[in-house]
Amino acid sequence: MTLQIKNIEEHQAASQRAIENPEGFWEEQANTFHWRKKWNKTLQWEFDTPDVKWFVGGKMNITENCLDRHLEIKGNQVALLWEPNEAGAPAKSYTYRELHAEVCKCANALKSMGITKGDRVIFYMPMVPELTIAVLACARIGAVHSVVFAGFSAQALADRTNDAQAKMIICSDYNKRGAKNIPVKQVVDDAIAMGCDSVEHVLVHKNTGGEVNTNAVDTWWHDIVPQQSADCEAEEMDSEDMLFILYTSGSTGKPKGVVHTCGGYMVYTCYSFRNVFQYKDGDIYWCTADIGWITGHSYIVYGPLLAGATTMMFEGVPTYPDAGRFWHICEKHRVNQFYTAPTAIRALMAKGDEWVEKYDLSSLKVLGTVGEPINAEAWHWYDQKVGKGNAPIVDTWWQTETGGIMISNIPGITEAIPCYATLPLPGIQPCLMDKDGNEIEGNDVEGLLCVKFPWPSMIRTTYGDHERCKNVYFSAFANKYFTGDGARRDENGMYRIIGRVDDVINVSGHRIGTAEVENAINQHSNIVESAVVGYPHDIKGQGIYAYVIANYPVADEDAFRLEVRETVTREIGPIAKPDQIQIVSGLPKTRSGKIMRRILRKIASGDASGLGDVSTLLNPEIVEEVKKGALV
Ligand code: WTA
Repeated sequence: MTLQIKNIEEHQAASQRAIENPEGFWEEQANTFHWRKKWNKTLQWEFDTPDVKWFVGGKMNITENCLDRHLEIKGNQVALLWEPNEAGAPAKSYTYRELHAEVCKCANALKSMGITKGDRVIFYMPMVPELTIAVLACARIGAVHSVVFAGFSAQALADRTNDAQAKMIICSDYNKRGAKNIPVKQVVDDAIAMGCDSVEHVLVHKNTGGEVNTNAVDTWWHDIVPQQSADCEAEEMDSEDMLFILYTSGSTGKPKGVVHTCGGYMVYTCYSFRNVFQYKDGDIYWCTADIGWITGHSYIVYGPLLAGATTMMFEGVPTYPDAGRFWHICEKHRVNQFYTAPTAIRALMAKGDEWVEKYDLSSLKVLGTVGEPINAEAWHWYDQKVGKGNAPIVDTWWQTETGGIMISNIPGITEAIPCYATLPLPGIQPCLMDKDGNEIEGNDVEGLLCVKFPWPSMIRTTYGDHERCKNVYFSAFANKYFTGDGARRDENGMYRIIGRVDDVINVSGHRIGTAEVENAINQHSNIVESAVVGYPHDIKGQGIYAYVIANYPVADEDAFRLEVRETVTREIGPIAKPDQIQIVSGLPKTRSGKIMRRILRKIASGDASGLGDVSTLLNPEIVEEVKKGALV
């Protein structure tokens, strides 16, 4: 197994060793896995292109390391524990041996349908065990998975399917989410009707048994998977072969397909999982993320299984049947490590302490947060009410592009400081840059967060558009990976993440590009132009504030706002729906026609003071109007 730091001395020694000899450090970690053929060069890199390769020439399959490798010693240990949406329904579990068999059957089914190494497979599924099984089945045969969060719209699904040129979509009939029963197969049908010519098969898992249309491309999971052989030789993959594509929003254009490869991702997700959660044999680990996001990929599926852990997945939502559900599950399964998002903590905190006080949470040893900055109030509530002061909080900073946790305290070993991600994991070299491209040295400073040396699970490219990868991440600063976040390094060298410095809004921990929302809003027939900014939101962290210019007078403003929201739901999905829509007659612009978002952000934050000199704007008079009509 990869290194698991046990005390502060080991943390310091590992950090030192990894800076002096990064290749040696990662080689040590990589050596703990099963490789069919060892690599001949540990690292080859050049950031400007970018061209980063880890464990060059190494041959392996990540599922042999997630599953086969554990069979001898942990064959009968639970690998995957599943808690269903309905609180009264029985949980399900799969031992490593059972999970291995299910993955092999599904892999054989995919093969029988003509899926081979390198083919892309899109997923549009609820949080059921079959999702994990099928994701691993893809990896087993060398197909590239791309999981799309099942809250996205048909249009968003079609866009991603076409960008990936996927040969197959795997979905369910319906998704259960709390009291809702969502017809997801219908969404897939709608996406295909929009034109997804690359799709040859839709594999449908019967989840609720609700009625669905059947098309020529459809195959039921139960008609093809269960009868397959439970043995499937894993495909031999090159360390740098693609493992998956995950679409994520950026500040411009359509979402980009972040590409991760096999070898480096394997090494880093296992290493970071073991250290940040301090997982010990026999522990029950639960991450509440959806597998449609990177957190689910790295810390429900790959990291824990690579480490031979028991990982739990939950089908439902935190407030169903009531606001005590998370804590009920923690008590029921004696959860030891619990990993969730600040937005969930804030939402549950708002429901009152009685929900958490009802349950025995004494099994909890580590609490984690991810996805957005956590405010002090939520941090203390989590620490006191959930952890009872006995379970250190790890505030983990990372991104879809980084593949794994980059900056985090280590529970019980390094200091936990409210609202601080604190220290990089050994092997990670963050730095702060100023706008002119100079590194800001020393402590008690603030700047743009970059990483100056490659790490194994970093983004390799953006699918089908390598130039975009270069421009977004590797062009802002020479020889650095640029994160898009701003950060502070305090007097003790501890990192605090401030938030995005680009036009990306972080809504409930989900990244949403303002340009994407504007494009969606502009699809409404009565909208000429729109500008979208983020604003502080008590529960979601950031909310979406849209300024819209209507083409002809709006008679019923509420009905109009509803229509605009519906348009966004149709184009992207409900998560991108604006919380506030202000109808304006114009947008503040520079003389070159650029929208002054800084002004709009200030007004949306409820603080219109200190807007600075607006007289140089093309239309300074509009500022007063926008201020007057502000909705917050
Ligand atoms: C933000 C999620 C503050 C950050 C794993 C980053 C955070 C973006 C934290 C990536 C944290 C993530 N504290 N902010 N602990 N973790 N972020 O790609 O702005 O969905 O750039 O990956 O979330 O979001 P993504």
